[in-house]
Amino acid sequence: MLKYLKRPLLTLRQSATRALSNSTKTTATTTATGGRLIEVNKALNGWEAKLKDAGVQDTDFNLKCIVSHVLKRKFNTVPDDFSQLKFNSAQLADFERFLEARCARMPLQHIIGEWDFMDITLKTAPTVFIPRPETEEFVRLVIDNYKRAEHVNMLEVGCGSGAMSLSMLHALPQVQATAIERSKAATALAWENAKLLGLQQRFEVHNHTMETDKYMPESLHDKRYDLIISNPPYVKTDEFQYLHPEVVVYENLNALDGGSDGLRVARLVFDLACVHLRPGGKLWLELGNEHPPLVKTIMHLQYEGRLKFVQSYQDQYKRERFVQLEKV
Ligand SMILES: C[S@@+](CC[C@H](N)C(=O)[O-])C[C@H]1O[C@@H](n2cnc3c(N)ncnc32)[C@H](O)[C@@H]1O
Repeated sequence: MLKYLKRPLLTLRQSATRALSNSTKTTATTTATGGRLIEVNKALNGWEAKLKDAGVQDTDFNLKCIVSHVLKRKFNTVPDDFSQLKFNSAQLADFERFLEARCARMPLQHIIGEWDFMDITLKTAPTVFIPRPETEEFVRLVIDNYKRAEHVNMLEVGCGSGAMSLSMLHALPQVQATAIERSKAATALAWENAKLLGLQQRFEVHNHTMETDKYMPESLHDKRYDLIISNPPYVKTDEFQYLHPEVVVYENLNALDGGSDGLRVARLVFDLACVHLRPGGKLWLELGNEHPPLVKTIMHLQYEGRLKFVQSYQDQYKRERFVQLEKV
Protein backbone atom coordinates (compact mmCIF):
# COMPACT_ATOMS: atom_id res chain seq x y z
CA MET A 1 0.00 0.00 0.00
CA LEU A 2 2.70 2.38 1.02
CA LYS A 3 4.58 1.56 -2.17
CA TYR A 4 1.64 2.78 -4.26
CA LEU A 5 1.09 5.88 -2.30
CA LYS A 6 4.66 6.85 -2.93
CA ARG A 7 3.99 6.90 -6.68
CA PRO A 8 2.70 10.11 -8.26
CA LEU A 9 -1.07 10.24 -8.43
CA LEU A 10 -0.87 10.75 -12.16
CA THR A 11 0.77 7.38 -12.82
CA LEU A 12 -1.82 5.68 -10.61
CA ARG A 13 -4.52 7.22 -12.68
CA GLN A 14 -2.76 6.21 -15.93
CA SER A 15 -2.45 2.62 -14.70
CA ALA A 16 -6.12 2.58 -13.81
CA THR A 17 -7.12 3.96 -17.19
CA ARG A 18 -4.92 1.41 -18.97
CA ALA A 19 -6.39 -1.41 -16.90
CA LEU A 20 -9.89 -0.17 -17.65
CA SER A 21 -9.31 0.11 -21.37
CA ASN A 22 -7.62 -3.34 -21.62
CA SER A 23 -9.93 -5.54 -19.67
CA THR A 24 -12.09 -3.20 -17.70
CA LYS A 25 -15.28 -4.89 -18.68
CA THR A 26 -14.07 -8.38 -17.92
CA THR A 27 -12.60 -7.43 -14.56
CA ALA A 28 -15.45 -5.17 -13.57
CA THR A 29 -18.21 -7.57 -14.53
CA THR A 30 -16.47 -10.64 -13.13
CA THR A 31 -16.15 -8.82 -9.84
CA ALA A 32 -19.68 -7.50 -10.12
CA THR A 33 -21.16 -10.96 -10.64
CA GLY A 34 -18.77 -12.50 -8.09
CA GLY A 35 -19.21 -15.86 -9.79
CA ARG A 36 -22.99 -15.51 -9.67
CA LEU A 37 -25.32 -15.44 -12.65
CA ILE A 38 -26.48 -12.18 -14.15
CA GLU A 39 -29.71 -11.68 -16.03
CA VAL A 40 -29.19 -11.16 -19.75
CA ASN A 41 -31.60 -8.22 -19.68
CA LYS A 42 -29.36 -6.53 -17.11
CA ALA A 43 -26.24 -7.26 -19.17
CA LEU A 44 -27.92 -5.59 -22.15
CA ASN A 45 -27.98 -2.29 -20.35
CA GLY A 46 -26.77 0.50 -22.64
CA TRP A 47 -25.62 -1.74 -25.48
CA GLU A 48 -28.52 -1.05 -27.79
CA ALA A 49 -27.73 2.66 -27.65
CA LYS A 50 -24.01 1.96 -28.21
CA LEU A 51 -24.74 -0.17 -31.24
CA LYS A 52 -27.06 2.47 -32.65
CA ASP A 53 -24.48 5.11 -31.96
CA ALA A 54 -21.92 3.07 -33.92
CA GLY A 55 -24.34 2.99 -36.87
CA VAL A 56 -25.37 -0.67 -36.51
CA GLN A 57 -28.85 -1.28 -37.87
CA ASP A 58 -31.36 -3.90 -36.71
CA THR A 59 -29.98 -3.90 -33.18
CA ASP A 60 -32.57 -6.43 -31.86
CA PHE A 61 -31.37 -8.99 -34.38
CA ASN A 62 -27.70 -8.26 -33.63
CA LEU A 63 -28.23 -8.58 -29.88
CA LYS A 64 -30.16 -11.82 -30.23
CA CYS A 65 -27.48 -13.33 -32.50
CA ILE A 66 -24.77 -12.48 -29.99
CA VAL A 67 -26.80 -13.68 -26.98
CA SER A 68 -27.52 -16.99 -28.79
CA HIS A 69 -23.85 -17.38 -29.72
CA VAL A 70 -22.63 -16.68 -26.18
CA LEU A 71 -25.13 -19.19 -24.74
CA LYS A 72 -24.18 -21.68 -27.51
CA ARG A 73 -27.82 -21.98 -28.51
CA LYS A 74 -29.40 -21.95 -31.96
CA PHE A 75 -30.85 -18.53 -32.78
CA ASN A 76 -34.40 -19.83 -33.21
CA THR A 77 -34.39 -21.56 -29.80
CA VAL A 78 -33.75 -18.28 -27.98
CA PRO A 79 -36.91 -16.30 -27.06
CA ASP A 80 -37.04 -12.64 -28.18
CA ASP A 81 -37.75 -11.68 -24.60
CA PHE A 82 -34.56 -12.65 -22.72
CA SER A 83 -36.25 -12.53 -19.28
CA GLN A 84 -35.48 -16.16 -18.36
CA LEU A 85 -31.85 -16.08 -19.55
CA LYS A 86 -28.71 -15.60 -17.48
CA PHE A 87 -24.95 -15.32 -18.15
CA ASN A 88 -22.16 -16.56 -15.94
CA SER A 89 -19.18 -14.22 -15.65
CA ALA A 90 -17.21 -15.79 -18.52
CA GLN A 91 -20.26 -15.53 -20.79
CA LEU A 92 -20.79 -11.94 -19.76
CA ALA A 93 -17.18 -11.11 -20.64
CA ASP A 94 -17.60 -12.77 -24.06
CA PHE A 95 -20.87 -10.95 -24.62
CA GLU A 96 -19.19 -7.60 -24.02
CA ARG A 97 -16.14 -8.43 -26.17
CA PHE A 98 -18.39 -9.44 -29.05
CA LEU A 99 -20.50 -6.32 -28.73
CA GLU A 100 -17.37 -4.14 -28.68
CA ALA A 101 -16.34 -5.83 -31.93
CA ARG A 102 -19.80 -5.26 -33.39
CA CYS A 103 -19.60 -1.59 -32.40
CA ALA A 104 -16.36 -1.52 -34.45
CA ARG A 105 -18.62 -2.78 -37.27
CA MET A 106 -17.11 -6.25 -37.49
CA PRO A 107 -19.76 -8.37 -39.29
CA LEU A 108 -21.75 -10.75 -37.10
CA GLN A 109 -20.67 -13.65 -39.30
CA HIS A 110 -17.02 -13.06 -38.40
CA ILE A 111 -17.78 -12.56 -34.71
CA ILE A 112 -19.77 -15.77 -34.55
CA GLY A 113 -17.44 -17.77 -36.84
CA GLU A 114 -20.19 -19.62 -38.66
CA TRP A 115 -23.38 -18.81 -40.54
CA ASP A 116 -26.40 -20.66 -41.87
CA PHE A 117 -26.78 -20.63 -45.64
CA MET A 118 -29.86 -22.38 -47.01
CA ASP A 119 -29.89 -25.79 -45.26
CA ILE A 120 -26.21 -25.92 -44.33
CA THR A 121 -24.01 -24.22 -41.75
CA LEU A 122 -20.72 -22.83 -43.03
CA LYS A 123 -17.65 -21.80 -41.12
CA THR A 124 -16.54 -18.25 -41.86
CA ALA A 125 -13.00 -16.82 -41.86
CA PRO A 126 -11.77 -13.22 -41.60
CA THR A 127 -10.75 -12.56 -45.21
CA VAL A 128 -13.27 -14.83 -46.92
CA PHE A 129 -16.42 -13.39 -48.50
CA ILE A 130 -19.54 -13.83 -46.35
CA PRO A 131 -22.34 -15.50 -48.32
CA ARG A 132 -25.32 -13.18 -48.79
CA PRO A 133 -29.08 -13.86 -48.53
CA GLU A 134 -29.64 -12.99 -52.21
CA THR A 135 -27.18 -15.73 -53.14
CA GLU A 136 -29.54 -18.17 -51.40
CA GLU A 137 -32.24 -17.04 -53.83
CA PHE A 138 -29.84 -17.56 -56.73
CA VAL A 139 -28.87 -21.07 -55.60
CA ARG A 140 -32.55 -22.02 -55.06
CA LEU A 141 -33.27 -21.00 -58.64
CA VAL A 142 -30.42 -23.12 -60.00
CA ILE A 143 -31.42 -26.10 -57.83
CA ASP A 144 -35.01 -25.89 -59.13
CA ASN A 145 -33.69 -26.05 -62.68
CA TYR A 146 -31.53 -29.14 -62.06
CA LYS A 147 -33.82 -31.19 -59.78
CA ARG A 148 -34.73 -33.59 -62.53
CA ALA A 149 -31.33 -33.75 -64.24
CA GLU A 150 -29.67 -37.18 -64.13
CA HIS A 151 -26.04 -36.27 -63.68
CA VAL A 152 -24.60 -32.76 -63.48
CA ASN A 153 -20.90 -32.04 -63.79
CA MET A 154 -20.67 -28.53 -62.39
CA LEU A 155 -17.93 -25.90 -62.15
CA GLU A 156 -18.03 -22.89 -59.84
CA VAL A 157 -15.79 -19.89 -60.47
CA GLY A 158 -14.85 -18.07 -57.23
CA CYS A 159 -16.39 -20.30 -54.56
CA GLY A 160 -15.43 -18.27 -51.46
CA SER A 161 -16.54 -20.27 -48.41
CA GLY A 162 -18.10 -22.90 -50.72
CA ALA A 163 -21.66 -21.68 -50.04
CA MET A 164 -23.06 -22.15 -53.56
CA SER A 165 -21.37 -25.42 -54.54
CA LEU A 166 -21.89 -27.06 -51.17
CA SER A 167 -25.60 -26.16 -51.05
CA MET A 168 -26.01 -27.57 -54.55
CA LEU A 169 -24.25 -30.78 -53.49
CA HIS A 170 -26.32 -30.95 -50.30
CA ALA A 171 -29.61 -30.56 -52.20
CA LEU A 172 -28.83 -32.62 -55.31
CA PRO A 173 -27.06 -35.99 -55.01
CA GLN A 174 -26.59 -36.15 -58.80
CA VAL A 175 -24.23 -33.14 -58.80
CA GLN A 176 -20.44 -33.42 -58.89
CA ALA A 177 -18.74 -30.05 -58.27
CA THR A 178 -15.36 -28.57 -59.06
CA ALA A 179 -14.48 -25.06 -57.91
CA ILE A 180 -11.69 -22.62 -58.62
CA GLU A 181 -10.86 -19.79 -56.23
CA ARG A 182 -8.12 -17.14 -56.25
CA SER A 183 -7.85 -16.72 -52.47
CA LYS A 184 -5.81 -19.34 -50.60
CA ALA A 185 -7.77 -18.73 -47.40
CA ALA A 186 -11.10 -19.20 -49.20
CA THR A 187 -9.86 -22.35 -50.98
CA ALA A 188 -8.87 -23.85 -47.62
CA LEU A 189 -12.14 -22.78 -45.99
CA ALA A 190 -14.28 -24.22 -48.81
CA TRP A 191 -12.47 -27.54 -48.46
CA GLU A 192 -12.86 -27.47 -44.67
CA ASN A 193 -16.58 -26.75 -45.04
CA ALA A 194 -16.92 -29.61 -47.54
CA LYS A 195 -15.35 -32.00 -45.03
CA LEU A 196 -17.45 -30.71 -42.14
CA LEU A 197 -20.56 -31.31 -44.23
CA GLY A 198 -19.39 -34.73 -45.42
CA LEU A 199 -19.52 -33.59 -49.06
CA GLN A 200 -15.83 -33.95 -49.95
CA GLN A 201 -16.40 -37.09 -52.10
CA ARG A 202 -18.27 -35.01 -54.70
CA PHE A 203 -16.27 -31.78 -54.38
CA GLU A 204 -12.85 -30.58 -55.43
CA VAL A 205 -11.47 -27.08 -55.09
CA HIS A 206 -8.41 -25.59 -56.77
CA ASN A 207 -6.56 -22.47 -55.72
CA HIS A 208 -6.36 -20.74 -59.10
CA THR A 209 -6.80 -17.21 -60.38
CA MET A 210 -8.74 -17.16 -63.63
CA GLU A 211 -6.98 -14.83 -66.09
CA THR A 212 -7.11 -14.17 -69.82
CA ASP A 213 -5.72 -17.26 -71.60
CA LYS A 214 -5.18 -18.97 -68.23
CA TYR A 215 -8.76 -19.64 -67.29
CA MET A 216 -8.31 -22.97 -65.56
CA PRO A 217 -5.55 -24.81 -63.69
CA GLU A 218 -3.42 -27.14 -65.91
CA SER A 219 -5.06 -30.25 -64.48
CA LEU A 220 -8.52 -29.09 -65.68
CA HIS A 221 -7.57 -27.91 -69.20
CA ASP A 222 -9.45 -30.70 -70.94
CA LYS A 223 -12.54 -30.66 -68.73
CA ARG A 224 -16.00 -29.81 -70.04
CA TYR A 225 -18.97 -29.07 -67.76
CA ASP A 226 -22.77 -29.30 -67.98
CA LEU A 227 -23.18 -26.27 -65.75
CA ILE A 228 -21.03 -23.34 -64.61
CA ILE A 229 -22.14 -21.09 -61.75
CA SER A 230 -20.53 -17.93 -60.46
CA ASN A 231 -21.15 -15.00 -58.19
CA PRO A 232 -18.18 -13.00 -59.44
CA PRO A 233 -17.02 -9.69 -57.96
CA TYR A 234 -19.47 -7.24 -59.59
CA VAL A 235 -19.35 -4.00 -57.58
CA LYS A 236 -18.30 -1.06 -59.75
CA THR A 237 -15.05 0.39 -58.44
CA ASP A 238 -16.54 3.86 -57.98
CA GLU A 239 -19.42 2.41 -55.90
CA PHE A 240 -17.08 1.37 -53.09
CA GLN A 241 -17.55 4.72 -51.40
CA TYR A 242 -21.21 3.84 -50.76
CA LEU A 243 -20.58 0.46 -49.10
CA HIS A 244 -20.96 -0.13 -45.35
CA PRO A 245 -17.88 -0.37 -43.08
CA GLU A 246 -18.67 -4.08 -42.55
CA VAL A 247 -17.84 -4.56 -46.23
CA VAL A 248 -15.09 -2.03 -46.86
CA VAL A 249 -13.14 -2.70 -43.67
CA TYR A 250 -13.68 -6.44 -43.20
CA GLU A 251 -14.21 -8.00 -46.66
CA ASN A 252 -11.45 -8.83 -49.14
CA LEU A 253 -11.87 -6.31 -51.96
CA ASN A 254 -10.76 -8.91 -54.54
CA ALA A 255 -14.07 -10.61 -53.81
CA LEU A 256 -16.06 -7.48 -54.68
CA ASP A 257 -14.28 -5.29 -57.21
CA GLY A 258 -15.77 -5.77 -60.67
CA GLY A 259 -13.90 -2.88 -62.32
CA SER A 260 -15.40 0.20 -63.94
CA ASP A 261 -18.64 -1.44 -65.17
CA GLY A 262 -18.71 -4.29 -62.64
CA LEU A 263 -18.25 -6.94 -65.33
CA ARG A 264 -14.45 -7.29 -65.47
CA VAL A 265 -14.42 -10.76 -63.87
CA ALA A 266 -17.77 -11.78 -65.44
CA ARG A 267 -16.22 -11.24 -68.90
CA LEU A 268 -13.47 -13.71 -67.99
CA VAL A 269 -16.17 -16.18 -66.91
CA PHE A 270 -17.90 -15.75 -70.33
CA ASP A 271 -14.62 -16.60 -72.07
CA LEU A 272 -13.98 -19.54 -69.77
CA ALA A 273 -17.50 -20.83 -70.45
CA CYS A 274 -16.94 -20.70 -74.24
CA VAL A 275 -14.17 -23.27 -73.77
CA HIS A 276 -15.28 -25.31 -70.79
CA LEU A 277 -19.05 -25.68 -71.22
CA ARG A 278 -20.25 -28.55 -73.37
CA PRO A 279 -22.68 -27.47 -76.17
CA GLY A 280 -26.09 -26.89 -74.59
CA GLY A 281 -24.46 -26.44 -71.17
CA LYS A 282 -25.56 -23.47 -69.04
CA LEU A 283 -23.79 -20.61 -67.32
CA TRP A 284 -25.67 -19.06 -64.39
CA LEU A 285 -24.43 -15.80 -62.88
CA GLU A 286 -25.39 -13.61 -59.95
CA LEU A 287 -24.74 -9.98 -60.91
CA GLY A 288 -25.69 -6.40 -60.05
CA ASN A 289 -29.15 -5.10 -60.96
CA GLU A 290 -27.91 -3.03 -63.91
CA HIS A 291 -26.06 -5.93 -65.47
CA PRO A 292 -28.59 -8.30 -67.14
CA PRO A 293 -29.47 -5.96 -70.07
CA LEU A 294 -25.78 -5.20 -70.50
CA VAL A 295 -24.96 -8.92 -70.59
CA LYS A 296 -27.69 -9.43 -73.21
CA THR A 297 -26.07 -6.80 -75.42
CA ILE A 298 -22.58 -8.19 -74.86
CA MET A 299 -23.82 -11.66 -75.90
CA HIS A 300 -25.28 -10.27 -79.15
CA LEU A 301 -22.25 -8.18 -80.01
CA GLN A 302 -19.32 -10.31 -78.87
CA TYR A 303 -20.36 -13.90 -78.27
CA GLU A 304 -22.69 -14.74 -81.17
CA GLY A 305 -22.27 -18.39 -82.16
CA ARG A 306 -20.56 -19.16 -78.86
CA LEU A 307 -22.85 -18.15 -75.98
CA LYS A 308 -26.47 -16.99 -76.00
CA PHE A 309 -28.58 -15.12 -73.47
CA VAL A 310 -31.42 -17.34 -72.22
CA GLN A 311 -33.16 -15.38 -69.46
CA SER A 312 -32.72 -13.06 -66.50
CA TYR A 313 -34.46 -13.37 -63.13
CA GLN A 314 -35.47 -11.02 -60.32
CA ASP A 315 -34.54 -11.23 -56.67
CA GLN A 316 -37.14 -10.80 -53.90
CA TYR A 317 -36.86 -7.00 -54.22
CA LYS A 318 -37.84 -7.21 -57.90
CA ARG A 319 -34.35 -6.32 -59.03
CA GLU A 320 -33.09 -8.07 -62.15
CA ARG A 321 -30.06 -9.89 -60.71
CA PHE A 322 -29.54 -13.39 -62.07
CA VAL A 323 -28.80 -14.49 -65.64
CA GLN A 324 -28.80 -17.77 -67.49
CA LEU A 325 -26.64 -18.18 -70.63
CA GLU A 326 -26.20 -21.19 -72.89
CA LYS A 327 -23.23 -22.56 -74.80
CA VAL A 328 -24.20 -22.78 -78.47
C1 LIG B 1 -18.51 -12.27 -54.52
S1 LIG B 1 -17.41 -13.51 -53.95
C2 LIG B 1 -18.49 -14.93 -54.03
C3 LIG B 1 -18.07 -16.07 -53.16
C4 LIG B 1 -19.08 -17.24 -53.08
N1 LIG B 1 -19.36 -17.78 -54.38
C5 LIG B 1 -20.39 -16.73 -52.46
O1 LIG B 1 -21.36 -16.51 -53.19
O2 LIG B 1 -20.43 -16.57 -51.23
C6 LIG B 1 -16.35 -13.73 -55.36
C7 LIG B 1 -15.28 -14.79 -55.14
O3 LIG B 1 -14.53 -14.90 -56.38
C8 LIG B 1 -13.15 -14.98 -56.10
N2 LIG B 1 -12.45 -14.48 -57.29
C9 LIG B 1 -12.36 -13.19 -57.69
N3 LIG B 1 -11.67 -13.09 -58.83
C10 LIG B 1 -11.30 -14.36 -59.16
C11 LIG B 1 -10.55 -14.92 -60.23
N4 LIG B 1 -10.06 -14.15 -61.20
N5 LIG B 1 -10.37 -16.25 -60.26
C12 LIG B 1 -10.87 -17.05 -59.27
N6 LIG B 1 -11.58 -16.58 -58.24
C13 LIG B 1 -11.81 -15.26 -58.18
C14 LIG B 1 -12.99 -14.14 -54.85
O4 LIG B 1 -11.80 -14.45 -54.15
C15 LIG B 1 -14.25 -14.46 -54.08
O5 LIG B 1 -14.08 -15.54 -53.22
